[in-house]
Amino acid sequence: MCGIVGYIGSKQAYPILMKGLYRLEYRGYDSAGIALLDGDLKLYKTKGKVTDLEGFVSGKSIEGTIGIGHTRWATHGEPNNVNAHPHFSQSQNLAIIHNGIIENYASIKEELIKRGYKFSSDTDTEVLIHLIEDIKNNENVSLDEAVRIALNQVVGAYAIVIISKDEPNLLIAARKGSPLVVGIGDDDYYLASDAAPIAEYTQDVVYLNDEEIVSVRRGEEIKIRTVKNKNKTPYIQKLELNLTELEKGGFDHFMLKEINEQPSSILDSMRGRLNAKKGIVKLGGIIDYEQKMANAKRITIIACGTSWHAALVGEYLFEDLARTHVEVEYASEFRYRNPIINEDDIVIAISQSGETADTLAAIELAKSKGATIIGICNVVGSSIPRATHAGTYTHAGPEIGVASTKAFTAQVTILTLMALRIAKMKGTIETSRYFQLLNALESIPNKVKETLDVDDQIRTLARTFTYARNFLYLGRGYNFPVALEGALKLKEISYIHAEGYPAAEMKHGPIALIDSEMPVVVIATNKGTYEKVISNIQEVKARKGKIIAIVTKGDKDVKKLADYIIEVPETEEMLVPLLATIPLQLLSYHIAVMRDCNVDQPRNLAKSVTVE
Ligand code: F6R
Repeated sequence: MCGIVGYIGSKQAYPILMKGLYRLEYRGYDSAGIALLDGDLKLYKTKGKVTDLEGFVSGKSIEGTIGIGHTRWATHGEPNNVNAHPHFSQSQNLAIIHNGIIENYASIKEELIKRGYKFSSDTDTEVLIHLIEDIKNNENVSLDEAVRIALNQVVGAYAIVIISKDEPNLLIAARKGSPLVVGIGDDDYYLASDAAPIAEYTQDVVYLNDEEIVSVRRGEEIKIRTVKNKNKTPYIQKLELNLTELEKGGFDHFMLKEINEQPSSILDSMRGRLNAKKGIVKLGGIIDYEQKMANAKRITIIACGTSWHAALVGEYLFEDLARTHVEVEYASEFRYRNPIINEDDIVIAISQSGETADTLAAIELAKSKGATIIGICNVVGSSIPRATHAGTYTHAGPEIGVASTKAFTAQVTILTLMALRIAKMKGTIETSRYFQLLNALESIPNKVKETLDVDDQIRTLARTFTYARNFLYLGRGYNFPVALEGALKLKEISYIHAEGYPAAEMKHGPIALIDSEMPVVVIATNKGTYEKVISNIQEVKARKGKIIAIVTKGDKDVKKLADYIIEVPETEEMLVPLLATIPLQLLSYHIAVMRDCNVDQPRNLAKSVTVE
């Protein structure tokens, strides 16, 4: 949700800012802009993507060794040239970039208008920079003090960077609820929403905490203080980010690369954590909380979107293996209810980005009620791992395609390990079964590799359904969340309406939609409710629906009924989501490509949803 980047040092800022914006474009891509300081404070911004900004700037003056840049996902005000960031203050001496939402902007704006301020955009951000300038002038304080006073007046979420014409060696940045990282170079500093734009210049970074303001002055050490005016010592960490992970590596899209990475990303999620021969499952990050998890009468899992689908798989796993009562909640609903959570409760928060605003707010609510919060996140150093009591990183590597793929299978892998570990501790699983499942899990990366062989077959299938108007996805048991995830993938990147349903629920309504025009994807692997799903397929066939079935290799019964068959290798029922999801990811990918959709940056979406 908006990417922000800043640079101050001895190099030319423009190429660093532009490269940074490309790296952050997954966070928002409806408009982009930069401000460069070279005597004058030059501001260039335009509707569209970073490449449009590059075109817009071409031929103009791009000198300057200090600057800020922004790629936007619109909240307040439509995506257009005027609402794009940066925004000038009234005097045009200051410029700001912002990720987040200032909730009380309307009342502040009203006040400023009364005092003669003019606004050129519809954004909440412009209100903030006018407020900062107003405070600076009227209270006659330094810029960082004016920022601090202003941030005490605003309600909402922000990561901001401010540049000042009067202070050519200074950038001021602050965060609350939206991420911000400072990179510390030899004689320069980098600021960004995440480490991706920084990694090629320095490995030394400081992740700002909420309500911290950093003064980044060339030639001096960074200074951090809180909005309540408490000095903080910067905590410098080493980045562990491989630059090749940020490139497409020969694939046409990040999404395709990330789908194909799953044999290794799942392996990475298990690395050092699973030893099937010795029967060891060890999740170092939660060791101190395992007993509490084992004792818990109930586990609540909170998440959004794809992570919520992984949570549903987690529910079945914990119930089956550890016999723990599990509830899965949309974080956005949980946070505004009055949920019954107490001190014995375990709450697991799942998030790829570790920045999802609703999930963060739900964590805070559960924490305030005394629950123990366990995180499952992908992005190291992000906000959610810092807000939880303990947790486990998925280690799937950077996921840049907006549609989540490898993060989902990594989350399911971690949930499987957790459920197995807790089951072993509680004694709810027989030793022979435990070993059987560990061995099956260990063989999953190879089976994912095998599953990826269906790519050509799916590309052909995608041609048949490129112009379908609707899709229905059906599954039962462990395959129900897979159906939901398949439908979500298709709608978000191809803009085809798709619904996921528990197969047996179809007859309670959605069956009315079925006719010869309706493709129905049924996940009909050979365990659990296989026979029942065959009956559901019959119901669709009787109404002339087109069946695309995901089946276990060698299947005979579904083959007789389905119009199209996609085979996945045999595995344990509870591990099927790790395989059956793959063809659905590929199906949505190929259909989207054939419809000429922007697969990695689908319309209206952004990767990291830092606003509610
Ligand atoms: C779907 C997708 C979103 C995210 C959701 C939660 O492909 O990417 O539905 O899953 O916004 O994001 P995280 O996992 O970062 O909390």
